[in-house]
Amino acid sequence: MPEIIIRNACAKDLDACIEIETNSFPPDEAASDESIRTRITTYPQGFLVAEKNGCILGQINSGATSKNDITDEAFKKLVGHDPAGTSMVIFSLSVLPRFRHQGVAAALMDRFIIKARDMGKQNVLLLCKEKLIPFYRRFGFEDGGLSASTHGGAAWHEMRLGL
Ligand SMILES: CC(C)(COP(=O)(O)OP(=O)(O)OC[C@H]1O[C@@H](n2cnc3c(N)ncnc32)[C@H](O)[C@@H]1OP(=O)(O)O)[C@@H](O)C(=O)NCCC(=O)NCCS
Repeated sequence: MPEIIIRNACAKDLDACIEIETNSFPPDEAASDESIRTRITTYPQGFLVAEKNGCILGQINSGATSKNDITDEAFKKLVGHDPAGTSMVIFSLSVLPRFRHQGVAAALMDRFIIKARDMGKQNVLLLCKEKLIPFYRRFGFEDGGLSASTHGGAAWHEMRLGL
């Protein structure tokens, strides 16, 4: 049984990552194809994919900032992204539906946290829906309460992991 490989994304992964994104989020919440392209080309250090048998199963992508406010919609297109920023902000953690519940997201998150620590970052931040708070708590994230973000018309919790 081939192992799942977790590695940094590169340009050839773009189509697969777009497919995962559009299969994982409602249209109002999914990042545009252009945003995914920008994240891969601008900040591959913060973009990991899970690969098995040459197939991309899942992705985690991010930007970096020293700001505490992560609700800025333009930041999702990496406007204001600062590679030297003290926090990594996860935009999307997503896995192809048929490969879920097999630990792919956990493997991506584990590696992401290790890499963020190795890069000298102080925090990993993200916004999530209430139902996923227990999932992120497993990695040490703390719930900072409801965010001002209304992205996609949904309610979001601010999650923070101190490294
Ligand atoms: C959330 C997601 C990334 C998890 O991927 P995964 O590879 O299945 O995750 P893992 O196998 O590592 O862990 C699964 C666990 O996460 C939790 N979980 C996953 N989806 C959940 C949901 N919708 N509601 C509550 N808990 C959930 C459960 O504890 C689950 O355990 P189980 O497999 O025993 O049911 C995947 O379901 C997905 O892509 N969802 C759509 C995109 C999304 O919502 N991403 C999160 C953005 S904040």
